[in-house]
Amino acid sequence: MTDNAVIDAAEPQGTLALQTFSMPKDTNANGDIFGGWLVSQMDIAAGISSKRECQGRSVTVAIKEVNFIKPVGVGDVVSCYTQVVRRGRTSLDIAVEVWTTPFDLTKGVSKVGDGLFVFVAIDDDGKPRELPPQV
Ligand SMILES: CC(C)(COP(=O)(O)OP(=O)(O)OC[C@H]1O[C@@H](n2cnc3c(N)ncnc32)[C@H](O)[C@@H]1OP(=O)(O)O)[C@@H](O)C(=O)NCCC(=O)NCCS
Repeated sequence: MTDNAVIDAAEPQGTLALQTFSMPKDTNANGDIFGGWLVSQMDIAAGISSKRECQGRSVTVAIKEVNFIKPVGVGDVVSCYTQVVRRGRTSLDIAVEVWTTPFDLTKGVSKVGDGLFVFVAIDDDGKPRELPPQV
């Protein structure tokens, strides 16, 4: 990544926010998992992290970067790890790493993607609101 927020490491960075299976319905024309599905999982994972940080409603305002490092296969266990790397007045940046455990368990875990998502805390009218103090 070009952003310093996500650091290359041999182990997942951040907290496990979401874990799921990749299914045959999520494949692309090559038979691997469709990138859009993976981005969706990353957005959900970041959303879970954002909800906790914002203590309420928030929305994705931008995806600053997404990298697909390795293909994801059908039946892989997909794990999304999140880390809040910047807190602004109403917005926050959340780094997401995606790691997979292949269907064939002998192959070990590997990092398959990462990204940087921006969320904004919103009030009941959908307007930005100040982030609560950090817990
Ligand atoms: C998120 C939303 C409420 C922000 O409203 P806005 O009037 O643009 O808000 P502001 O200009 O006051 O910006 C609010 C914060 O967001 C940040 N921000 C706004 N647009 C941004 C962008 N494209 N990239 C990064 N940060 C952005 C601002 O820097 C500001 O951060 P700060 O308060 O920490 O300094 C509004 O754009 C919105 O509702 N967007 C749709 C969100 C949505 O539906 N997401 C789901 C995907 S479909």
